[in-house]
Amino acid sequence: MSRPCHARIDLAALRHNYQLACDLAPAAQAVAVVKANAYGHGAIAAAKALEPLAPVLGVACIEEALELRDAGIKKPILLLEGIFSADEVSIASEQNFYLMVENLEQVQAIIQANVSQPLHCWLKVDTGMHRLGLLPEQADGALSILKASDNVHSDIIIASHFASADELDNPSNQAQLECFDHLIAQSEQTKGLAQSLANSACVLGHPQAHRQWLRPGFMLYGASPFTVPHTNADKLKPVMSLVSEVISVRPIKAGERVGYGGKWQAERDSLIATIACGYGDGYPRHAPSGTPVLIDGQEAPLVGRVSMDMITVDITELKDIAIGCTAEMWGQNLCVNRIADAAGTIGYELLTRMPARPLRVYSE
Ligand SMILES: Cc1ncc(COP(=O)(O)O)c(C=O)c1O
Repeated sequence: MSRPCHARIDLAALRHNYQLACDLAPAAQAVAVVKANAYGHGAIAAAKALEPLAPVLGVACIEEALELRDAGIKKPILLLEGIFSADEVSIASEQNFYLMVENLEQVQAIIQANVSQPLHCWLKVDTGMHRLGLLPEQADGALSILKASDNVHSDIIIASHFASADELDNPSNQAQLECFDHLIAQSEQTKGLAQSLANSACVLGHPQAHRQWLRPGFMLYGASPFTVPHTNADKLKPVMSLVSEVISVRPIKAGERVGYGGKWQAERDSLIATIACGYGDGYPRHAPSGTPVLIDGQEAPLVGRVSMDMITVDITELKDIAIGCTAEMWGQNLCVNRIADAAGTIGYELLTRMPARPLRVYSE
């Protein structure tokens, strides 16, 4: 006997989604982004599933990369935020971690370090997101310093990141692309360097930004970065299904209330199912009454407040629901983006904030 709430992780779907990214940009290579515990799916399992396909894995920081090395992952690992302190440079060199280079301080740390082998560097340019990256006018200077250093491998990649790629018609996408292409056109130092711009939304919806290296993250886990249907995103397969079981079914009378604070009141005689899954399992506490839950494959509305360990669902309209029936909070049959939207957030947050509590059950 055990509490039935768990997260099923479909590794075949993960590989399918990575392959979709590659198929959409056949001339490019793709870094498989597994940062933040592979967006909640389990970094080691996801990296092991993707390693045979992906030439490079991507994480946010050196601690995440070392966790993968300790687990036996051999492929190069790109640190997408670069280094946080100068002592990380020599470790990155020993471990074959590629560095995103975000500012001139990092450039100096790289060229001044004692390294065992030259580092692979990706120079990030700020083309308009104004979060990280060198200013376009700093790029040439930084590149000439890096190229002149024996600490740096000659295959430098020039990169940038889009602020609004998930909004397909947002004019900032074209503006960032033009800024990047202008830099490439007028700079001697960037000539011949491979380029990398594309996160998931670019891979799926902005082919002009594919270039030589993709960096898909969210799409690998099978949900769309867009809020509107999209033919490419529709081919993604959900990887995580957060599932549990009905642990109670009870009739209530019209006018009675359900859950903490009695925030939901039945307008008619109703049947309420309690599911063993709450905000302690990663279900968003702010999901309002009406948020869909799948019980035995049938959609029914959440009612009342989300508790730490349980939710309550109005199953008055459903047939034959009893203790032990399966419940899916999101996943293969109910898109995580629908739950996120109801709760006023995005699928990225729901997946990434999944706590350790629901056991991850992996299938090939
Ligand atoms: C530099 C960089 N590249 C790629 C990604 C992957 O983005 P997404 O998950 O939207 O595909 C991220 C994620 O934040 C990032 O910061």
